[in-house]
Amino acid sequence: NAMFSWQRTAYHFQPEENWMNDPDGPLYHKGWYHLFYQYNPDSAVWGNITWGHAVSVDLIHWLYLPLAMVPDKWYDWNGVWTGSATVLPDGQIVMLYTGDTDNYVQVQNLAYPANLSDPLLLDWVKYSGNPVLIPPTGIAPKDFRDPTTGWLGPDGKWRVTIGSKVNKTGISLVYTTTNFTTYELLDHVLHAVPGTGMWECVDFYPVSINGTTGLDTSANGPGLKYVLKASLDDTKLDHYALGTYFSENDTWIPDNPAEDVGIGLRYDYGRYYASKTFYDPNKERRILWGWINETDTETDDLEKGWASLQTIPRTVLFDNKTGTNILQWPVEEVESLRLNSTDFDGVLVEPGSIVELDIGTATQLDIFADFEIESLGSDENNETDGGCNGGAVERRSLGPFGLLVIADQTLSELTPIYFRLANSSDGNLKTYFCADERRSTKATSVFNQIYGSEVPVLDDEKYSMRVLVDHSIVESFAQGGRTVITSRVYPTEAIYGATRLFLFNNATGVNVKATLKIWQMNSAFIHPFPLDQI
Ligand code: FRU
Repeated sequence: NAMFSWQRTAYHFQPEENWMNDPDGPLYHKGWYHLFYQYNPDSAVWGNITWGHAVSVDLIHWLYLPLAMVPDKWYDWNGVWTGSATVLPDGQIVMLYTGDTDNYVQVQNLAYPANLSDPLLLDWVKYSGNPVLIPPTGIAPKDFRDPTTGWLGPDGKWRVTIGSKVNKTGISLVYTTTNFTTYELLDHVLHAVPGTGMWECVDFYPVSINGTTGLDTSANGPGLKYVLKASLDDTKLDHYALGTYFSENDTWIPDNPAEDVGIGLRYDYGRYYASKTFYDPNKERRILWGWINETDTETDDLEKGWASLQTIPRTVLFDNKTGTNILQWPVEEVESLRLNSTDFDGVLVEPGSIVELDIGTATQLDIFADFEIESLGSDENNETDGGCNGGAVERRSLGPFGLLVIADQTLSELTPIYFRLANSSDGNLKTYFCADERRSTKATSVFNQIYGSEVPVLDDEKYSMRVLVDHSIVESFAQGGRTVITSRVYPTEAIYGATRLFLFNNATGVNVKATLKIWQMNSAFIHPFPLDQI
């Protein structure tokens, strides 16, 4: 379908056609990374949910495989919904997923590969005793979904947690099992947060406080913190918190109750939902996938024949410099797409000015940008702290300044990715990292907004961002991945060879000096696996 074909991405994962949502059961097996995903084989809108399947040796160059599972049993008749993989110590793979039954009840089912010696894991067997779990007493039939990867407790039993709600309190139920076919429900939850509503796609995993590698989900002991993440059905936002896990009674307590799950930090302050991590034993890292939904209309999606993307997979580490957040960073393999690069050293951007970065076409980029500010003496800096609210056009003494991506030469379309500094009530400077989509397209039916949040900037640090640009998606990482924003944009002019890149400074009281390294990025040429050739 040629309609809006310039919005197809070049190196982000998306199906050849039709609808995709959550990533499912990511895992590494015999040299291949496997990605499964919620997929409608018949249409570009949600429905008839199956598991799409793709493999890659490097998390970037994907090959589409046939559907892994389709709704063909009473216990998943209305959809093979989201699930997670657990790789057992003996190499067996256990896949737990939610089935929406013929009666619209959410149950948990077990599936496993028919042939573990097949690196492609083409055939999946649904366990004959399914469902293995039905909604327990006190849980509504439509509030019981998305089982996590299992982790092994000190008693030798596996644990799995499943999101739900009671009234308006989001909760995470814990089950123990030794065989993944029979389970016991614990009489208390892993965690609960009032007012956060239904928790979808819960994720729970350890991070190392001082290490630079990721941890297996079953790792335990000193020197760890645990991330608990819930996808809030009410707001469609992915929230996480750092805390301590007590394996003796399977509870988790946030480091900072004021920043508990659902009321504090988010993985991504842009368009992002239903994420899931897995441990990559190949490179000893934890990798995060996230679903990027569209912000155009359903009619547009039907016309273009496809909907939604996955992020570039991101490694997750604990940020031991701040101690308060995780760091997300695109997997190093994305660097294999880098072509020629251009350096800019100390480019001066004066208040109220825009400077073009002469790199030619700017549709597929990996941008590193550092900014230093230099006071002009008029930065009284006594303004109120409006966060990202004013967008890229509201001029204050200390911002906004940053990049204009996916822009055309006349600036009729542009997406600013920027910093804005503000005084906080305690007299310290706060830094916000923002993306303003309001001028990203001439199309009027698109939902555009200003995204962003605060980002910690330490004393010796410059303001730094990394931005991945790929036709209609922009993934932006501030201060090494402390705050992340994904934007979905729908240019009509800033497409293909007409796309340009600029610096801007809308601060009134500071000069900005920008130092950049910008790579053109190759395409990943994602295509069907040539199964007939093996
Ligand atoms: C999240 C979600 C999950 C569910 C799946 C259905 O986007 O609603 O809770 O399992 O999608 O496609």
